Amino acid sequence: MATVEELIINGKKKVHSTHAKMLLADLLNLNPLELLLHLDEEVTPEVEQHYYEQIQKLANQEPLQYVIGNVNFYGNTFVVNPKVLIPRFETEELVENTLNFIQYYFSEQDLKIIDLGTGSGCIGITLKKKIPTSQVTLVDISKEALTVALENAKQLEAEVTCLESDFWEKVPGKYHIVISNPPYLKQDEEVENIVVQNEPHLALYAGEDGLDCYQKILSEIKEHLEEEYLVAFEIGADQGLPLKKMFQEVFTDALITLKKDLQGRDRMIFALKKKA
Ligand SMILES: C[S@@+](CC[C@H](N)C(=O)[O-])C[C@H]1O[C@@H](n2cnc3c(N)ncnc32)[C@H](O)[C@@H]1O
Repeated sequence: MATVEELIINGKKKVHSTHAKMLLADLLNLNPLELLLHLDEEVTPEVEQHYYEQIQKLANQEPLQYVIGNVNFYGNTFVVNPKVLIPRFETEELVENTLNFIQYYFSEQDLKIIDLGTGSGCIGITLKKKIPTSQVTLVDISKEALTVALENAKQLEAEVTCLESDFWEKVPGKYHIVISNPPYLKQDEEVENIVVQNEPHLALYAGEDGLDCYQKILSEIKEHLEEEYLVAFEIGADQGLPLKKMFQEVFTDALITLKKDLQGRDRMIFALKKKA
C-alpha cells in the first residue's frame, strides 16, 4: 500500500502540488496542513484509486471545486457540480456588503429576501444563515441548479423556498431585499478556458453587452419591491457606468451606490430606499 507522501509525490507530477494535497486531504477528511502530520501513513487501495482518478480529472482541466464536489463560501461548505457556477470570492464581497446594509438599515424587520439566479444557493442560503428570521426565496431557471441549491439548503439546515422561474415570471409577492449575481458576460467576452469549458454557459453569458439579465430583472422589479428595500447586484468590472444609468432610471427616489471590490474594480451596485 502507498503512503500519503508517495501519493503526493506522484500527484505532483501531473498537477500543482497544492491541488494534489487538497485532493488527498479531502479524501482523508483532513485539512491540507494536517496531511503533513500523516506523511508516513499508508492509505487504503480505495483511497489511492479515487485519488488518482481525481488527479487525472484535474490534469484534464476540470476545476478543483467540481472534482472535490464542494467549496467554502462565507464559512459554509456548499456542494457544487457542473450544473452550477462555482461561487466566487467577489460574491462573498457582495454578501458582506449586503449584510452591512441590512444590519444598518433593516435590523428590526422580518425581512423577505429573494436571490435571483441562485445557482448553488450560496447567496440566499448564506443570508438565511446570517438572518434566521428572514424569509428567503431562491430562484433559478435551471432545474438542475435548483436541485443543488436544495441539497445545500438541507445540508446547511436553512429553511428556504426554491422556485424554478425565468427571473420574476413565477415569483409572487414583494421583497425587501432583492439580491442577484446574474450572468453578465458579453457573448464574445474572453474568459479563461477552464471556465468556458466547464461552467454552465447559462450562468455566464448575457447577450451582446452582458446586460440582458439586468435589463430583464429591472424591467419588472418595481412590482416586487416593498416600500423600503435594498437591491444588490454583482456586476462586471466594466459595467459600473451603464448599470448606474439603468438604476437611476428605475430607482428614481433611492440612494444608489456603486461599490468597488478589494481590487478596486466596480463590482457591486446597490439601490436603497428607506422612509425619511
Ligand atoms: C452567475 S450565476 C450565479 C450563481 C450564484 N448565485 C452565485 O453567485 O454563485 C447565474 C445564475 O443565474 C441563472 N439564470 C440564468 N438565466 C436566468 C433566468 N432567466 N432566470 C433565472 N435564473 C437564471 C443561471 O442558471 C445561474 O445559476
